[in-house]
Amino acid sequence: MKIINSEYKQRNMKIWNEIAPRYHKRWASVNKGPFQSTKKLIELVKINKNDVVLDVACGTGVVTKQIQKKVGNAGHAIGVDTSTTAIKIAKKWNEKNKNLDFVNIDAENFSFSKKFDIITCQYALFFFPNAQKALKNMKNSLKKSGKIGISVHGSKDNVPFFNSILDSAIKYIPDYVPAGTPNLDRFGTQSALKAEVRKAGFSNIVVKEFIFNYSPGKFEDYWKNYIKYIAKPLKEKLNELEYSKRKEFKESVKEKTKQYTKKNGEILFPWQVLILTAKIN
Ligand SMILES: C[S@@+](CC[C@H](N)C(=O)[O-])C[C@H]1O[C@@H](n2cnc3c(N)ncnc32)[C@H](O)[C@@H]1O
Repeated sequence: MKIINSEYKQRNMKIWNEIAPRYHKRWASVNKGPFQSTKKLIELVKINKNDVVLDVACGTGVVTKQIQKKVGNAGHAIGVDTSTTAIKIAKKWNEKNKNLDFVNIDAENFSFSKKFDIITCQYALFFFPNAQKALKNMKNSLKKSGKIGISVHGSKDNVPFFNSILDSAIKYIPDYVPAGTPNLDRFGTQSALKAEVRKAGFSNIVVKEFIFNYSPGKFEDYWKNYIKYIAKPLKEKLNELEYSKRKEFKESVKEKTKQYTKKNGEILFPWQVLILTAKIN
């Protein structure tokens, strides 16, 4: 399993280096759909002026940017991520500031000499093959009074933006999700998320559920943009599919989106998000 984990991590890092600019443009920098969670997460963790806050798997720094605004000049915000491209983007669109840093660090392998008031982690816990290790690192890096705030996508049926395509993709391209890839909705229920965080030694665990709406446009826009924004290895697999199979695949996705399609042809997907807060005592 260890070898698979390290292979997966290498692959995932490569993917994030490739897609970070597109991810930033389409998702993180636009507070639409699931990214309405950034504001909610910041509210729920209750950041005070002067706090020292760590944002784990910060990506292009969307949450870190908001944290920095809250902590003020006497506080400190640090964003960490394994993707060098994401960190570069984060540095570029965040103003140069003495109390803001972005560093390339693996969530499963870090320790800081200082302790944090708050640690956040948005849309990444499910990517860590050893989520326990990441959560324990977070716990060890918190002050006694510290807390964490974690956002994850809900279970697959409650996130049809992904599931409408993934469900069919797996049928037409059996290796679409390579072996060793963690299940991305593995913390998508209150009980699974709470259990994982409790196991790492946290208490006072509270999970709030949100349903955001996201419109990817009409079906053709949804399909075209999905293909445009996915990582290269997936695009290649799609392109290798023979014409008739690709057509069938597309039709089966269209069928799944029908229940979310309005009279004017626009799709409106609900998008479930869970946001957890917890303390260490
Ligand atoms: C969906 S993005 C979320 C980024 C950011 N938190 C946001 O809300 O926009 C997932 C991020 O997790 C990062 N990531 C994946 N595995 C990681 C690991 N083991 N350690 C640190 N970052 C990791 C990826 O590089 C990517 O930037």
